Amino acid sequence: MILTYILILTLFFIIIFFIVRTAIVAFSMLTEVPFLPSGKLYKEAIKHLKIEKGDKVLDIGSGDGRVLIYAAKKYPKTEFVGVERNSLLVIYSKLLKRVFGLSNLSFHHIKVEDFDISEFNKIYMYLLPEFSDKVLMNKKDEIKKGAVILSFHFPFGSKFTAINNPTKYPVKYGNRKDNIYKYINK
Ligand SMILES: C[S@@+](CC[C@H](N)C(=O)[O-])C[C@H]1O[C@@H](n2cnc3c(N)ncnc32)[C@H](O)[C@@H]1O
Repeated sequence: MILTYILILTLFFIIIFFIVRTAIVAFSMLTEVPFLPSGKLYKEAIKHLKIEKGDKVLDIGSGDGRVLIYAAKKYPKTEFVGVERNSLLVIYSKLLKRVFGLSNLSFHHIKVEDFDISEFNKIYMYLLPEFSDKVLMNKKDEIKKGAVILSFHFPFGSKFTAINNPTKYPVKYGNRKDNIYKYINK
């Protein structure tokens, strides 16, 4: 009998979890840059950041936090920061961070335009080219010289690409394939 209750309760929480998650994703679709997770391909993509102890890694538009949660577990001696403008996604990410007890990770509810990115030497993002171009050009002098910037799926727009020529790498996870674009800031 108790086992049945536990099973029903677990099922209830799983259903609630998926309903809440779907609602958050649907809500974000209404925004300029929607939340579109990079599937599990990020696991391969972030290898190109060549993360080391002492690095400071930023995910611009960290979504539901999956990229950084994975990375923070894998590299416990590295500091990871996510900035995200969608408050619901930030609450969700912070919750996951707590569940996994990750002290090397933080999430901030802020637009990247208002966030100082000068301390980071590795940056990951999955944003639309026109948007990332605008943000990066505005923050050009703030980004560390030699910082590695990875863009999943989209290369940056023409302005930033004119200054920093990317190297394109294919990424594959299971039967999903995509590309990442790696920039070294000059
Ligand atoms: C395509 S999703 C990528 C999510 C995550 N990085 C991943 O790879 O799974 C882009 C995210 O950027 C966020 N975003 C869009 N504009 C932003 C801004 N100005 N500042 C911070 N986050 C932003 C969106 O809310 C969305 O969650």
